[in-house]
Amino acid sequence: MKATNLFLLLSSTLSRTSTNLATAASLINRKAATTTTPSLFRSPPPLSPSSFVSARGFRDDTFSKPPPSIGKRWIRPDSATPSEWEAPSFAFAFDIDGVLLHERAPLPGAAQTLALLDYYHIPFILLTNGGGKFEADRVAELNEKLGSNMTTDNFCQSHTPFQELLPEYRDKTILVTGSDYEKCREIMEGYGFRSVVTPGDIFRAAPEVFPFDTVRGGEVGRELPKPLWKPRERKGLRGDDEAGGKTVLMGGKKGGEGEEGEGEEKRLEDHLKIDAMFVLNDPRDWALDVQVFMDLLQSKQGYVGTYSEENNRGNWQGDGQPKLFFSNSDLIWAAKYHLPRFGQGAFQHALVGIWKEVTEGKKELVRTSFGKPHRETYEYAEEMLVRHRGEWLKMKGYGEEDIRGGLKRVYMVGDNPESDIAGANDYDGKGRYGTEWVSLLVETGVFDAARMNFKDGDVRRADVVEKDVADAVKWALRNEGWVDE
Ligand code: G3P
Ligand code: MG
Repeated sequence: MKATNLFLLLSSTLSRTSTNLATAASLINRKAATTTTPSLFRSPPPLSPSSFVSARGFRDDTFSKPPPSIGKRWIRPDSATPSEWEAPSFAFAFDIDGVLLHERAPLPGAAQTLALLDYYHIPFILLTNGGGKFEADRVAELNEKLGSNMTTDNFCQSHTPFQELLPEYRDKTILVTGSDYEKCREIMEGYGFRSVVTPGDIFRAAPEVFPFDTVRGGEVGRELPKPLWKPRERKGLRGDDEAGGKTVLMGGKKGGEGEEGEGEEKRLEDHLKIDAMFVLNDPRDWALDVQVFMDLLQSKQGYVGTYSEENNRGNWQGDGQPKLFFSNSDLIWAAKYHLPRFGQGAFQHALVGIWKEVTEGKKELVRTSFGKPHRETYEYAEEMLVRHRGEWLKMKGYGEEDIRGGLKRVYMVGDNPESDIAGANDYDGKGRYGTEWVSLLVETGVFDAARMNFKDGDVRRADVVEKDVADAVKWALRNEGWVDE
C-alpha cells in the first residue's frame, strides 16, 4: 500500500508514546460500567462457522465446507492448550456507522460477524469517529443492539484520546463544544477535567456575544446548571456584581471603565481565562461556536472578551491563545438521508475558512486533530490489540516467543475512504510493532463509487472492496487461510 499523506487535512498532530496510550487505556476503563473483565473476550455465544453461514444466508459454500486442513484453528480455544490451538496472527478494526450500524440499527451480518470472531478469540476493536457519549454507555448500547460482549477495551471513539491531555489541562479551564453542550461538559468532567465551560455559558453570561435571535430562545438560553470550579471565573461568567462592578466578559478595551490606574495584568485576571478548546462531536450551534472560538483565537492569552495586539503585528495565535483540538475530521458521514451529511470536519473547514478571511490568508490555523485518519487512532488500536492478545495468550500458557511479534496483520473494515481507509493505508507497517494494515471498504455506508474515482496510489483507495462487513471478514479469513479458497 502506498503511504502518501495526501489526505491528512490538518496541520498538526501530537506525537505520543505507547506509555501515553497505556495511560489512556487505563483512564478509559475508569468509566467501564459493563464489565471489569480485562480480556477482549467473554462468554462466547454458541456460534460456529456454519451457523455464521446460515445466519448470513451465504449462497457460496465458503464456510459450509468442513474446516480444511487447519485443524488447530476452528476450535474454541477456551479449553484448548497451546499444542491444540493455533492463535490467530491477525485481528480486525471495525468502523461503526456504515459498517456495523446504519442509523443506529444493525447492518446485515454485523452481529453474526462479531459473534464469530468473539467465539474463536480473533481479536477486534471498534474505531469510530462518532462521539458525544461516555465510552461505557456507548459500548453498553452496542452490546444491546449487536448482542455482543464487548468492553471498553474493544472500543475507541473520537474523543477517547482527549483523556491523554488530562495531565496538562486538569486544573485549567477548557471550553468544549459538540452536539449537546451539557453532555460535552459531563463527558469531559467525567474524564477528570475540573473546569469545563461551554459557549452556552459564555452566551448566558453575556448575550451580546452573539447578537442574533436564534440561539437566545433555544436550549443555550437556560440557566447555568451548576457552578464552575473556579469561583473567580464563575463570577466572571455570570458578570455579576461580585466581580467588583466590572462586566468581565465585556470589558475588553484597554483601561476599561472604572479601572483607571489599575495594571493591565490585574484587569486581565478578572476575565475568564480559557487554556484549551475541544470539539467533541458534531456541533449544532455552529454560528455561536464559530464566534466564541474565533474570539478566543484572537484573544490576549485566552482571556474572554480581550483582543491581542499581537494580531496587528501578524503574530496570529502567538500570544498564548488557547490550543484548539478536534476529535474527528469527517467531512461527510452516512446518516438517514440518501445523500451523505456534513460532519465535524465541515465545522472545522468553516472555522478554517473564516480564520483565513480574518487573517487575510497570512497564517494557517494551528490545531490538533484526533480520530481517523490520524495516526494516533491506529496506534492506539494496534497497542490495544497487541496488549490484549498478549494478555490472553499468556493466560493460556503461551510463551513470550509466541506472543511477541505475533500480531502480523490488522484488517480495517470501513465505509469511508477518506478516514477509515486512508488512515489504515497510511499507517500500514509504520506502527511500533510493524503490523501490516489491510484496508477493506464496504458498500453499506458513505462510499459512493460515483463520487470517488481514485487512481492507483491514492491513499484513499482500499485494498479490497466488499459488499458488507460479513463479506469483508470472509475475505480476510480466506486471505489468512482460515477458510478454503
Ligand atoms: O459522526 C460520526 C461519523 O462522523 C462517523 O462515524 O463510526 O463511521 O467513524 P464512524
Ligand atoms: Mg463510517
